[in-house]
Amino acid sequence: MCGIIGYTGRRNAEQVLVKGLSRLEYRGYDSAGIAVINKGDIQIRKKQGKLSVLMDELSHNPAKGTTGIGHTRWATHGVPNDVNAHPHVDSGRNIAIVHNGIIENYKEIRKRLQAKGYEFVSGTDSENIAHLVSDCYAGDLYKAVKKAVSMLKGSFAIVVIHREEPGRIVGARKDSPLVAGLGDGEYFLASDIPAVLEYTRDVIYVENGEIVDIKDGGITIYGSGGKIERRDPTAIKWDISQAEKKGYKHFMLKEIFEQPGIIRNMLAERVRKGKIKFEELAIPEKDLKRIKRISVVACGTAYHAGLIGKYLIEKIARVPVWVDQASEFRYRDPLVDKDTLVIVISQSGETADTLAALREAKRKGAAVLAVCNVLGSSIAREADGVIYTHAGPEIAVASTKAYTAQIAILHLFTYFFAGIKGTVGKEEKGFLREFRKLPGNLDKLLGPYHSAKNRLAGYAAEFHEYYLARNNKSCFLYLARNINYPNALEGALKLKEISYISAEGYPAGEMKHGPIALIDENPWVVCVATNAQTHEKMLSNIQEIKARGGIVIAIVSEGDDLLRDESINYAIEIPRVPEIFSPELVAVPLQLLAYYVAGEFGYDIDKPRNLAKSVTVE
Ligand code: AGP
Repeated sequence: MCGIIGYTGRRNAEQVLVKGLSRLEYRGYDSAGIAVINKGDIQIRKKQGKLSVLMDELSHNPAKGTTGIGHTRWATHGVPNDVNAHPHVDSGRNIAIVHNGIIENYKEIRKRLQAKGYEFVSGTDSENIAHLVSDCYAGDLYKAVKKAVSMLKGSFAIVVIHREEPGRIVGARKDSPLVAGLGDGEYFLASDIPAVLEYTRDVIYVENGEIVDIKDGGITIYGSGGKIERRDPTAIKWDISQAEKKGYKHFMLKEIFEQPGIIRNMLAERVRKGKIKFEELAIPEKDLKRIKRISVVACGTAYHAGLIGKYLIEKIARVPVWVDQASEFRYRDPLVDKDTLVIVISQSGETADTLAALREAKRKGAAVLAVCNVLGSSIAREADGVIYTHAGPEIAVASTKAYTAQIAILHLFTYFFAGIKGTVGKEEKGFLREFRKLPGNLDKLLGPYHSAKNRLAGYAAEFHEYYLARNNKSCFLYLARNINYPNALEGALKLKEISYISAEGYPAGEMKHGPIALIDENPWVVCVATNAQTHEKMLSNIQEIKARGGIVIAIVSEGDDLLRDESINYAIEIPRVPEIFSPELVAVPLQLLAYYVAGEFGYDIDKPRNLAKSVTVE
């Protein structure tokens, strides 16, 4: 959940590290720090708070040198403060380390090292690594790191420097991501590609158990047994501009507006001559044909996309689908076997719970298909097959474009799979005809929201006033039915994440089994009442809420009578499409509503409190 970076070359390391950290800040922003080697000394600058606080410190107190490491933290062990911020050093200040992950046996190591006289100053598990490498050091940093990591339990990606070995950085990984960037006479190690993309497009994905030794202008990768691994770099095709705001106030808003283009590209890439193609899938069609059940496993927003996938696959391919939150999956001894296809969905491809579920599913003999956004991520590499969503880098912590891309990919996969299963024939053509309208419909839907003064922004402003007038007593409920029920969960999650306002998503039919007790004049209730077989039932739910004084925001299909119904407080229209094609469209006003509400409260939309983009701890 933290971001780490290392650099050695001819440039001013401080600038490279800070720039890289700015691209990794989505991984955590409780504190930030750098360590740079200068004339046989290690200069450390680290500060609690966002990277801007560290930058301010560096403007008064720069760190000079051409080799260094950096870190942006999402706290696990030890509160966010200056002392717990990385880099950490050993007692002699010879070694500095940055770490992403969790050291499970840190108490035991600490006890052993304290007995040897090492003094611990922080409350972190990571500080152990600095002292441990120091304890193992006998003049060669690679050998010391190799010995030290063999004693660590848990997950880690680390980068280490030694004050007497300028020009050398050593990295190691186990279950936390690490990539090496190869520049012209310079090298980088980082948690994620955007951190190095400004300087090089050539990267090597460091594998689990490997150690990278960069020194004397060269790079050596050692496998877990110490054998040298030879691997060609991968050329990254996407641009750093894709990871920039491009004039939008926030990444989240930019990413919301990217959605039509992503689906357009997906269609161009995945549909050829009227046929759906998944070239990188790698699971043979004959294996897919014999699949008897599907188990979808994911976390957070990706889990909601998986729930929509269940509706699609069961309806079209007629194969039973279970959907689990990855954090629960492996503890319940799941019933998956060689007849099960396990689909793991993850934007980052690094979520620890999802990765653990993937491994459990493989252990039980199931074929695992990953739906991932980040190329070369751990989940993408460990799965038997992968389908990339190609939504481009998603920087805002609140996921938007990755979600609609996941749903759209599941839409395409459903018809592809149904074709193999023989549950669709000519219908595939009809599906594609309708699906091809999706980018245009998304454009149409987003059109009115290009200006800052729009309907949803207005509703958000009114909610803000209402909330303050009621001494912060208001909250949100999201109700929907059938294939859009997961969107109710997702709408509530988006609002909670970035506005810190209590919000719950429910299937509307469940209202009278409990949640209706919440309705008085306080909650605002978002009701998805688009064109659907359950439309009439949603209208009854709306009446039940109105009768109890609740405030309704209705999401309806264009032309719906509710748009003219004066008893409805607020209404938002989306293009009228068959119900099965509506989830990608319904998601958009829910994303925008959360965005504008958070804006009214003045919160840091792209970096909400307590969260990080990539959850690499369990
Ligand atoms: C979404 O807005 C969240 N930040 C979070 O729920 C996220 O979807 C979840 O952590 C899963 O991440 P992944 O898709 O990278 O695995």
